[in-house]
Amino acid sequence: MGSCRTSPEVGGMGHSIKRKEDLRFLQGKGNYVDDIQLPDMVYGHIVRSPYAHARLKGINTAEALKLPGVLAVITGEDLAKANLAWMPTLFFDKQMVLATGKVLFQAQEVAFVVAEDPYIAADAAELVEVEYEELPVLVDPHKALDPGAPLLREDREQKDNHIFHWEVGDRSATDKAFEEAEVKAKVHAFFPRCHPSPLETCGCVADFSPATERLTIYLTSQAPHVHRTLFALVGGIPENNIRVISPDIGGGFGNKVPIYPGYVCAVVASLTLKRPVKWIETRSENLQSTGFARDYHMTAELAASKAGKIQAMRVKTLADHGAFNAAAQPTKFPAGLFSICTGAYDYPTAFCEVDGVYTNKAPGGIAYRCSFRVTEAAYLIERAVDVLALELKMDPVELRRKNFIAPHKFPYASPLGWSYDSGNYDAAMQVALDTIGYDALRKEQAEKREKGELMGIGVSSFVEVVGAGPSHTFDIAGIKMFDSAEIRVHPTGKAMCRMGTKSQGQGHETTYAQIVAEELGIPAADVTVEEGDTDTAPYGLGTYASRSIPVSGAATAMAARKIREKAKKIAAHLLECSEEDLEWEPGKFSVKGAPSKSKTIQDIAFAAYTNMPAGMEAGLEAVDYYDPPNLTFPFGTYICVVDIDKGTGEIKVRRFVAVDDCGNIINPMIVEGQIHGGLTEGLAIAFMQEISYDENGNMQGGTFMDYLIPTSVETPHWETGKTCTPSPHHPFGAKGVGESPNVGSPAAFVNAVVDSLSHLGVKHIDMPIAPWKVWNILKEKGVVS
Ligand code: CDP
Repeated sequence: MGSCRTSPEVGGMGHSIKRKEDLRFLQGKGNYVDDIQLPDMVYGHIVRSPYAHARLKGINTAEALKLPGVLAVITGEDLAKANLAWMPTLFFDKQMVLATGKVLFQAQEVAFVVAEDPYIAADAAELVEVEYEELPVLVDPHKALDPGAPLLREDREQKDNHIFHWEVGDRSATDKAFEEAEVKAKVHAFFPRCHPSPLETCGCVADFSPATERLTIYLTSQAPHVHRTLFALVGGIPENNIRVISPDIGGGFGNKVPIYPGYVCAVVASLTLKRPVKWIETRSENLQSTGFARDYHMTAELAASKAGKIQAMRVKTLADHGAFNAAAQPTKFPAGLFSICTGAYDYPTAFCEVDGVYTNKAPGGIAYRCSFRVTEAAYLIERAVDVLALELKMDPVELRRKNFIAPHKFPYASPLGWSYDSGNYDAAMQVALDTIGYDALRKEQAEKREKGELMGIGVSSFVEVVGAGPSHTFDIAGIKMFDSAEIRVHPTGKAMCRMGTKSQGQGHETTYAQIVAEELGIPAADVTVEEGDTDTAPYGLGTYASRSIPVSGAATAMAARKIREKAKKIAAHLLECSEEDLEWEPGKFSVKGAPSKSKTIQDIAFAAYTNMPAGMEAGLEAVDYYDPPNLTFPFGTYICVVDIDKGTGEIKVRRFVAVDDCGNIINPMIVEGQIHGGLTEGLAIAFMQEISYDENGNMQGGTFMDYLIPTSVETPHWETGKTCTPSPHHPFGAKGVGESPNVGSPAAFVNAVVDSLSHLGVKHIDMPIAPWKVWNILKEKGVVS
């Protein structure tokens, strides 16, 4: 690769080197929580509520306890005695570990059975008799706010179902702009409740050793250090006696950020029985009870001039959080980073308000491949711009280009308070238009419409905000959102790199090694990256919200630079010159003007242990806790082309071009893989997935028969492209990318389908857009009978 500073053998930034971790994954030699086998290990199984809202009248565990092999049945009342029946959520709320008093959602945790065999535990769970008295169920968040609505959370002082009201922006200036506007557009857009559905479900093995008094927890955790601290604070166990090990993780996507009741029950059971206890969730349990995402009922309005200049945005949203507010997001942001909803456009004023409510559904509000509600925000603005384009009878590309924040305006202060670091939105748009051949497609669409055929083109020019975050504003449960890297160079010039983050499949073992290769010239193949063991890794906040490269990636570069500083002193000593006489190129220091007089990083590493300058500490290592000065703002333009079958309503994605800009790229192949995966998830959300409930709170999508996962048959060919606008504040100009395709693509899919029907007066269709929805519209509009 011409633009790389290092050779392919060194494999620094820009090289598409193969993922080191794939060697074990492809051989089936990964080590997941369910692979952990310990002597004397026993197994837990959760008894769950069949009702969405019911009073608990009694639990009879006698029959279950009689089953041979059963060791214990733990109930909420048992936990209450140890003050553990409730636990704090990551967002100022509390959540029942095991139900006491009443249950608040279907599949809520009611009892925990422990047995010598997982099948005995499951059988015994069937024998636990629970008496319920059904209560009225609330599944509609709008109805949850009615004055006469049944009160769900009797434990709270506040006697209604309202959780929070949050607003940002200038309400009166925005209202005034709307009063004076020549053109207004409005869209009600529901972002349905959906689920990350990682390949590996959640689980843990809790292993308390009475001999050492140490508790080791093997955990499907995206944030092992934070989980250790919370276990220590809630359970009263000294933090030095807890070791959280997050081994290989089979996909997280935000699902493995919260602490779940099953984890706590396994820990309690291990402390009680003094044996290792394994709890692994089933697929249905994962879909029914662990952190869901989205469920945002949003209304957006745009005010504009007739010429198509956007003047203001007004947003009102109802956020359905289910039974407990277990959203995993920075504490100062009740609606996450939703205020990025002004998007890629430059206008002076905006106002956004969000109300959170309780309903009888599983708790959550997690950031599914999303930087805390950014997906909802990007979808909303990109839908609203298309509705405005219809109102103005203007091409949606032209409208976007008229309003993009110009490149010279960065850093750009958004009307809702963000400082966008860098961007060139028009450049990404141009690449996308050229790649897809936009003008020819519009011509083709016009011709097809003449013939009564349905074809649509959808555009989404999204902006993201990732890399949480600067510690002055960002914390999770009070812990500041820095992240860390520790690099140790061994005498033979090989290195070990330990991180505060935790890969769930993103290729961290490769990319962090590439950063070390770039900064120190040590070949990436010679750098071992380790994550997920709280006994060895430096403290970090973990991996979610595309924060690994913006924060821990930066920490890696900073730690490497500290090592380079020391290496320079050693090189000067070895070359008998002053530090000022030295110059660096990746992998070696040489004397200015005498390039043959040089010392490689490997020579220097050896000297760090064998021949260091007088007075210098031995060793070559450094640690860095990086506190980013700002977030990074990746962006892109996605264009989707669909053809609609009039007879069936079937939607065929003919083409999809994704142009992403995540600043400087470490590994282009991994980035492309991230984009393919995220687009496939976006496709599923747009067309196939929804977690819905009937009026009794029964969940309708508890298996993959109903909650659909796209296979290669449904997945179109993704065409990717890129522009590069480095982040000015990141040590090597990178921005995050992992979540961009999930954030940016739903609007492109929906805009394409709506565009195919816009000449019939269709302005919006809610996701998931299944063929029956399209067919119903065609029937309603008289296109088919
Ligand atoms: O936090 P998470 O790892 O999910 O997301 P990310 O920071 O957006 O990075 C996802 C993966 O993309 C990283 O592990 C890197 O392998 C790669 N990446 C890259 O090569 N260059 C970038 N500028 C950003 C990410």
